[in-house]
Amino acid sequence: EKGGHDYFMLKEIEEQPEALANTLRGHFSGGVVLDEQRLSEQDLRDVNKVFVVACGTAYHAGLLAKYAIEHWCRVPVEVELASEFRYRDPVLGRDTLVVAISQSGETADTLEAVRHARTQHARVLAISNTNGSQIPRESDAVLYTHAGPEIGVAATKTFLAQIAASYLVGLALAQARGTKYPDEIEHDFGELEAMPEAVRSTLSVVEQTRGLAERLCSAKAVLFLGRHVGYPVALEGALKLKELAYMHAEGFAAGELKHGPIALIENDLPVVVTMPSLKGHPQLHAKLVSNIREIQARGAHTVVITEEGDDAVRPFADELIEVPVVPTLLQPLVTTVPLQVLAAEVARNRGFDVDKPRNLAKSVTVE
Ligand code: M6R
Repeated sequence: EKGGHDYFMLKEIEEQPEALANTLRGHFSGGVVLDEQRLSEQDLRDVNKVFVVACGTAYHAGLLAKYAIEHWCRVPVEVELASEFRYRDPVLGRDTLVVAISQSGETADTLEAVRHARTQHARVLAISNTNGSQIPRESDAVLYTHAGPEIGVAATKTFLAQIAASYLVGLALAQARGTKYPDEIEHDFGELEAMPEAVRSTLSVVEQTRGLAERLCSAKAVLFLGRHVGYPVALEGALKLKELAYMHAEGFAAGELKHGPIALIENDLPVVVTMPSLKGHPQLHAKLVSNIREIQARGAHTVVITEEGDDAVRPFADELIEVPVVPTLLQPLVTTVPLQVLAAEVARNRGFDVDKPRNLAKSVTVE
């Protein structure tokens, strides 16, 4: 049942193209359509503030949603850990849309955040992988990710599906608010639809990443760096390594290096960097190249994840993992894949149970 793999997580990593395709299926018919939609077009038009609330990996999907929704819909988005949200008296009202992202649909903190938002008359839209779970039941609208059941405690295919689903919410909002023309919506949906294939070709990095995992498995710590959409990817890479390999791992926004974390760099410390798109963000790309030069000069072992044909960064990469060229906002769908494999394989090399890491539960139903 593990599809010939040693552990479910690898099977689930390989199921990501299908999870994405299933999540997108049926959501475009003359425009973007959501699932259980109990919010009117007028409700969506009136939204003047979006909060995304979630925990763990789902929170990282939320951070990515912010880049897409603000860019497409010109509405401010705040992303908050569900466990913090309701204790700080957030400013909510009828024109606030709260997007609750939860694979299980049962996470206690996220559920309580939803309940709090509703007492303040905010509109709540849930993104969940579990039909009929509590969070969708208590929300005004639901968008289901159709990633299928996820056995590994570490979220993989549900994460990619959550990103796709949040982007669908972004497109639906842009459509209702008129911040994108119908042909732009169709074009963007088409780009999303091309992602299952791009993720499928990214799976060819599994073997290469295995070799890398062997080299990194005795490292004292691993740092992850990124900018723009690469930043949440860095956080996700670090979370995966912590939870599966029990290694000290931190994700940073690369621009923060000089404000402290660069002091951590020492000889042979592995630093994993996800590069921005060369065409989409040439200035950011150049900045990251200079960050990498800086840390390499201080002895870091640089592991660079970048798009195929990125020759500018090659001289500074001790290890180079290439992923397909895709539009900037969609890059996390491909750059996350090697980070998932890395965490799983480092854990396996260290002799740990990849599917059932210690101290963790698949669904966290206590606060
Ligand atoms: O079911 P949820 O999406 O609400 O779960 C949220 C987190 O508990 C979950 O993403 C957790 O961080 C995973 N173990 C990460 O791999």
